[in-house]
Amino acid sequence: MGTISLSEIPSVSLLYKLGKLTAPTATPLHPPKASHNDRVGLIRGDITQLRVGAIVNAANRSLMGGGGVDGAIHRAAGPRLLAECFTLGGCETGSAKITRAYDLPCDRVIHAVGPVYDALSPERARAALEGCYTRSLELAVENKCRSIAFSAISTGVYGYPSDEAAPVAIAAARKFLDGPHGYKMDKIVFCTFEMKDVQAYNQTLPKYFPPTEAAVGPDETTKAEEKKETEQANAVAAELPSVPKSDPSQS
Ligand code: AR6
Repeated sequence: MGTISLSEIPSVSLLYKLGKLTAPTATPLHPPKASHNDRVGLIRGDITQLRVGAIVNAANRSLMGGGGVDGAIHRAAGPRLLAECFTLGGCETGSAKITRAYDLPCDRVIHAVGPVYDALSPERARAALEGCYTRSLELAVENKCRSIAFSAISTGVYGYPSDEAAPVAIAAARKFLDGPHGYKMDKIVFCTFEMKDVQAYNQTLPKYFPPTEAAVGPDETTKAEEKKETEQANAVAAELPSVPKSDPSQS
C-alpha cells in the first residue's frame, strides 16, 4: 500500500475552498486566522500510512501494544517498536511518551494514553484527554518534529463519545497554535477512521478554525449573478443555428 505525504493531506483552508467544510452556523469560538487554517489538516484513513514527523498512537498504560490503532501501529512498525516500548516503564493516563518509528513511514511515534470514558466524571476524562494532546504536541516540538498526526484517542474501545472528544482535540490544537511554541509546528493533522469521527471533526473544526472571508465559497449574490449569466448563455445558445448533421458540400 502506498504512503501519504504531508502535501497530500488537505488543510482546513483547502477543505473550505472545496466546500467539504462549511462555516459554523453559530458564532465561532475563535477568530479566523488564515495561517492556522493552512496548518491544520484533516484526513480519513490509516494513520500508519502517513509520512509525517510523528503519529500519535492511542495506547494503554503498559505501552505494550493492544488492539485498534495501537495494534495497527505495532504491526506496521515491526517488533523493534515493542522492544523500545518495553524500556519505557509504561505511561500515566493523560500523558504520552515518544519512540522511534522503525518500519513506519513517519519519523517518530508518540504513544498517548487516553482515559477510559466515564459518564459519571466527564470533567476528569476531558482533562486527561486534553493532557494527551498537549503533551504530544510538546513532545513533538522537543524532538524537532514539524508535523504531527493524531488518531482519535479514546474514541474506540475506551468509549469516549466522538462529538465530545473532537472539541477537546481541536481546542488543544488551537491553544497550541495560538501559544508561544505554535510557530514550531508546520502541520497538525487529525486522522479519522470511522464515520462518527469524520462527522465530529467536520462539525467541530469550523468552530475553532473558522473560514476567513476569502476562503468562503461564492456568496448568495455571486451565486444569483452566476445563475443569471448561465440562463443568458443558455438563451443565446438556443437562438444559434443547429450544428449541421451532414457534410454541407453534399447538398
Ligand atoms: N488509523 C487511524 N485510526 C484508527 C486506526 C488506524 N489504522 N484503527 C483504528 N483507528 P482505539 P482507544 C481509530 O480503540 O479508544 C487498544 O487496545 C478508531 O476508529 O484504537 O484509545 C490500546 O492498546 C478510533 O477512532 O483506542 C488500548 O488498550 C481511534 O482509532 C485501547 O485500545 C481510537 O480507537 C485504547 O482505546
